[in-house]
Amino acid sequence: MISEHSLILQTSNLLKVLAGKLESSRQVPEGFWKELGIVLDDFEAKLHHAKEEMVLFPKLKELHLQGDGELVEEFVKEHAEAKLLSRKIQEGSNEERLNALRQDSDLMLRHVRRENSFFSQAQTVLSDSEKQELFEGFQELEKKAFGSLGVLKGFSERVKALSEKASAL
Ligand SMILES: [Fe+2]
Ligand SMILES: [Fe+2]
Repeated sequence: MISEHSLILQTSNLLKVLAGKLESSRQVPEGFWKELGIVLDDFEAKLHHAKEEMVLFPKLKELHLQGDGELVEEFVKEHAEAKLLSRKIQEGSNEERLNALRQDSDLMLRHVRRENSFFSQAQTVLSDSEKQELFEGFQELEKKAFGSLGVLKGFSERVKALSEKASAL
């Protein structure tokens, strides 16, 4: 999950770069938004947020960590917010895109920071067998959603390529 969070932070940075380009009236080709949509919808939502909501959060709730109920509820709400922002980024006018890029970039930055601190707390109380159980749950979900394992690498390459393209706009 940590490597996925680092890719989310890279994506958040990419969104910020794009917002800057739109602000200085650079033309972003239509196909670019489609490619970005794959990162936002398939990597962030369908892989990462789904792993958290379907596998990790239910397990964390069992641990009864301090403030876990409200935290998890907020995390889930933020996932839904990110989904709406992703729609606006892909389909909105340039002005809507600019706002959504800014909001999503800030949202994901805050979100990942808060999750990291909550997850590292959880890590200290999870047993090895519970960690193994989570790992297997993540794999099962990935296989079901994408038909194979190891999809993170492809997403990571996509973000890298998009970041390079965005800087050159
Ligand atoms: Fe999350
Ligand atoms: Fe996360």
